[in-house]
Amino acid sequence: MEVLFKVTRQQHNSSPVVQTYRLQVEPGNTILDCLNRIKWEQDGTLAFRKNCRNTICGSCAMRINGRSALACKENVSSEIAIAKQIAAVNSVKTIPEITIAPLGNMPVIKDLVVDMKDFWNNLEAIAPYVNTAAQKVPEKEFLQTPQQRSRLEQTSNCIMCGACFSECNGFEVNRDFVGPHALAKAYRMIADSRDSDTENRLQKYNEGTKGVWGCTRCWYCNFVCPMGVAPLDQITKIKQEILAHKQVPDSVPLRHRKGLVKMVEQGGWINEPQFVLQVVANYFRDLKGLLAIVPLGLRMLAKNKFPFSFEPSEGTKEIKALIAAVREENAKN
Ligand code: SF4
Ligand code: SF4
Ligand code: FES
Repeated sequence: MEVLFKVTRQQHNSSPVVQTYRLQVEPGNTILDCLNRIKWEQDGTLAFRKNCRNTICGSCAMRINGRSALACKENVSSEIAIAKQIAAVNSVKTIPEITIAPLGNMPVIKDLVVDMKDFWNNLEAIAPYVNTAAQKVPEKEFLQTPQQRSRLEQTSNCIMCGACFSECNGFEVNRDFVGPHALAKAYRMIADSRDSDTENRLQKYNEGTKGVWGCTRCWYCNFVCPMGVAPLDQITKIKQEILAHKQVPDSVPLRHRKGLVKMVEQGGWINEPQFVLQVVANYFRDLKGLLAIVPLGLRMLAKNKFPFSFEPSEGTKEIKALIAAVREENAKN
């Protein structure tokens, strides 16, 4: 069958242009097969990364039909099905089209090759090595039970392809955020029975919006990850560890999480002025936080929108019962 490949091409610091290549392909061909043929048969100047051709090395991640994916994993027939859905929204195409573009959130070096410096530096920032400093080093290797090892399986599947980082909304709006790949690896370290640095790690991953609290929970990393690592799930597990840990210093995100549940439990829904006071101003203890919310309070007062009273929700009893049931369930696990 004939397919049009619309490839976004770009030289460093120049504007992107879309170049169309026409190719006779089989439905089972991978997108990487097609790009190789374009390069070998039509245009040797097209630049892209590849290596294993087998979903192992993580080199060939790019945006295919609008989302980040591995070119050696996706094939023509499934991409045409996706392209048809897109075409149905726009216009009906006589020859199927597949769009190919470089990963997002990283500057383009050439065509589909991006500069992954931030990706690697952010991984390094979470200290992605097992730290055994506080453990007695055994004479031979560190042994793990099958259960201890199984806690590492999902995150160990990461092949560092960058697909999640490319789609991360948290990183897009906050360049301090380390990103989903780094935090998935961070959980792998916390979950490792051989690592003795959990305390420091939790403090580090709890810092401002650099660590777990920089995630906007958009779920895109889970959606695009080709290896089922589910970075958002790992971020959630780190948050749970932080919340359960007494030694982690108090912070706005922690008060937010803890206060939210407490408040909903008390009144069925959120008493907003009290919530803001509790989270941002730490009940008058955080002067900087208090001063930050004063202008908003004054504006609300001026517009007669400041709620002086709070009515608990009619469903408070049911909500209390639900929260208790969830706590009970969590305690069992
Ligand atoms: S869920 Fe969080 S980490 Fe994952 S892509 Fe969205 S903002 Fe990034
Ligand atoms: S978590 Fe998934 S998407 Fe992100 S780098 Fe690892 S394998 Fe790629
Ligand atoms: S070429 Fe190695 S993952 Fe695609």
